[in-house]
Amino acid sequence: MHPTVRKAVFPLAGHGTRFLPMTKSSPKEMLPVIDKPVVQYVVEEAVAAGIEQMVMVTGRGKRAIEDHFDISYELEDVLQKKNKTAVLTELRRITNLAQILYLRQKEALGLGHAVLCAELAVGDEPFAVALGDEILDGPKSGLAQLMEVYREFGAPVIGMQRVPLSEVSHYGIVAGTEIRKGLYRVDGLVEKPRIEDAPSDFAIIGRYLLTPDVFGILRTQAPGVGGEIQLTDALKTLAKNRPVYALEIEGDRFDTGDKMGFLKATVRFALNRPDLSGEFFHFLRETLERETLRQSAGEGVHAVRPVQG
Ligand code: G1P
Repeated sequence: MHPTVRKAVFPLAGHGTRFLPMTKSSPKEMLPVIDKPVVQYVVEEAVAAGIEQMVMVTGRGKRAIEDHFDISYELEDVLQKKNKTAVLTELRRITNLAQILYLRQKEALGLGHAVLCAELAVGDEPFAVALGDEILDGPKSGLAQLMEVYREFGAPVIGMQRVPLSEVSHYGIVAGTEIRKGLYRVDGLVEKPRIEDAPSDFAIIGRYLLTPDVFGILRTQAPGVGGEIQLTDALKTLAKNRPVYALEIEGDRFDTGDKMGFLKATVRFALNRPDLSGEFFHFLRETLERETLRQSAGEGVHAVRPVQG
């Protein structure tokens, strides 16, 4: 039996520069998709994978995340007096989701450095890593899919998805040998390659299941692309020492730290919600019909550009 994965590390110290000015005083992980902050979706994904302890690696300006998962006695008192039982139950569910430990990454030295900051909290155990601004919509928790592979092989597993070739330079890219449908053994990894250097169109998404031997590599990892200590570089070394797997994750991924990703996530999750989908669907259809008419009459204020990729 392989040791159980009980902990997940959430690197949350990033500045969210792609979403300024909104993220000047409010963490990007606290942007709401409908009525929940993005980070709550990721924590719920981890809980659905059986993970009990969350290690949040935060930085300056991220206090709102701690408050979100904490008890608010005053608020609960008010809701109780007003008999708002449903919302009160929901707030209590959130505070009881998991045990959460908060650590600070004092300097934003890269994703690899953020993971290394969690070493003391993780100890000598396998652990998951989940980026707090990427959310998945699918039939099964992304981390649960990685967990199944970990249970089988007892080895590190990286979550990946295909991306258009034009986007490979935004991601860590996987070179691998397929061992069965959707599952690859990692032969190499490149962080943010140029198109001509990319070994495939399989991009690392923000989900990993790792073993504690990665910490030893991270401790001496030299800065890579962008002058940052890259997790991808450490995993490339790890894959030379032991088998590392990469799994094609099922489900649609939304990068909510990006404006377009955030908009798409909002539409998708609203359409998934039984209490909102009916009216919202009609609104979308009407808006699209009106916009289509305006465009065809040459009145479109903002010409709709064709979708790339
Ligand atoms: C990080 C990782 C990269 C991965 C990406 C997924 O990059 O370094 O390998 O593909 O997350 O979103 P970042 O987006 O933090 O630059």
